[in-house]
Amino acid sequence: MEKFVINGPTVLHGDVTIAGAKNVALKAIVTSLLTDDEIILHNMPHIRDVLLMLDVVKSLGAHVTIEGNTIRIQDGHTKDTIVPLEIGARLRTSSMVLGPMLSRYGNATIPNPGGCRIGARPIDRHIEGLKRMGATIDYDSKDGYFHAHAQHLHGAQISFLKNTHTGTETLILGAVLADGTTVLKNAAEEVEIDDLIALLTAMGANITRSGNREITIVGVPKLHGAQYTIMSDRNEEATFAIAALTTKGDITVHHSQRHNMKAFLEAFEKAGGVYKMIDDTTTEYFYDKPIQPVDIVTGSHPGFMTDWQAPWALLMTQATGVSTIHETVFENRFLYVEELRKMGANISYFDPNVEHPEAFYNFNWEDRIKGTHQGISITGPTKLHNAILSMNDLRAGATVVLAAMLAIGQSSIYGVEQIDRGYEQIDTRLAALGASIEWIEEDEIV
Ligand code: EPZ
Repeated sequence: MEKFVINGPTVLHGDVTIAGAKNVALKAIVTSLLTDDEIILHNMPHIRDVLLMLDVVKSLGAHVTIEGNTIRIQDGHTKDTIVPLEIGARLRTSSMVLGPMLSRYGNATIPNPGGCRIGARPIDRHIEGLKRMGATIDYDSKDGYFHAHAQHLHGAQISFLKNTHTGTETLILGAVLADGTTVLKNAAEEVEIDDLIALLTAMGANITRSGNREITIVGVPKLHGAQYTIMSDRNEEATFAIAALTTKGDITVHHSQRHNMKAFLEAFEKAGGVYKMIDDTTTEYFYDKPIQPVDIVTGSHPGFMTDWQAPWALLMTQATGVSTIHETVFENRFLYVEELRKMGANISYFDPNVEHPEAFYNFNWEDRIKGTHQGISITGPTKLHNAILSMNDLRAGATVVLAAMLAIGQSSIYGVEQIDRGYEQIDTRLAALGASIEWIEEDEIV
């Protein structure tokens, strides 16, 4: 069993370089299936989910070479269009191979990605869109696979009922080689999608953001290889910025994405944090005065990202007063609350008053889980103390690690594989900022 042992309290200060964005890297790997030419991707993060996605494309015949943070992928010719259960079921985004496999080979068999700890996370919006483009997709509950076929995908007008980040990307990946033009309405606006569009454009695709929440893709007969440097990770940056403020420190972030983090920076300043624009890609985040409570409602871009709310909650435990977080994207994204409560945090759940929740929330209303809530209220400031903790999902993991840095005493945190999914070498990078953190392989307790 792997654990982090962390001693606190610590003040974090120094420089950190933000890694490549996980939520671009995973999809960039999928684009390699759209051409027989080689794709060369730079600034790729060394994280578990990237290695899993490489296993997915390798299981479909691709050849992969990793050279530091550069990954070269050449789509192989032995075309197997079945993603093995033991690989696909471990990575939700493996379902995104549907589009490329259907448009190039006419069929695909993928495991049901299933939910994860933060919610059911179905792919109904992805499936509906591909069906509109001519695919037949059936789910067989006996083998747990989606079985998809298409003579050839054709263009379609598709309007998403609700926002979907990877759903928008799945349909772009399916439309780039389809016959005719596809128009996606109510398309997601997360900037990571624009990075994927830039890569596909470099491969010869014809894609434009043609209007408000509208994307037009004109199918082309073939795509060619490309070299591309992916953007850095906004979620990592938000985590380090909050780390600076929460520990009363000072962290300078290189490869900064601040220009894509307006909602975060507004909240950060309202909470009393200071950020200094050193240059176009360098931002210094530091503590300047007592932290103020700031209420947050999460939303899709350009709103306050749901991925930022967990570390934000930790920051609010240090604010003088009461603040609230209203999570509107996922139905079960407060898994870190129990861990922070173990450390003394004063957090309670509540159900925000919403007139038409089935339309208001981004998740499918029928997926909500009995006994969960969409709001938390945080009263601070609280001096956190050490505890034995666990990491339940990626962003909750980062939050618990930061909390242990703040807490008085030594904490042990289990579930390191969760954080390793999305934060490159987080222990060495935090140690370089002054943290006392050790990654220990503990013998299985027999
Ligand atoms: C992407 O998830 C990101 N993951 C998430 O980051 C991010 O939090 C989310 O977008 C919102 O920005 C990747 O890009 C790999 P959605 P995604 O489709 O695409 C429901 C992280 O920590 N929904 O916009 O899955 C869904 O369950 C991760 O890096 C359906 O019901 O998010 C969710 O409640 C966490 N049916 C809501 O809609 C569908 O077909 C928004 O989902 C699709 C989505």
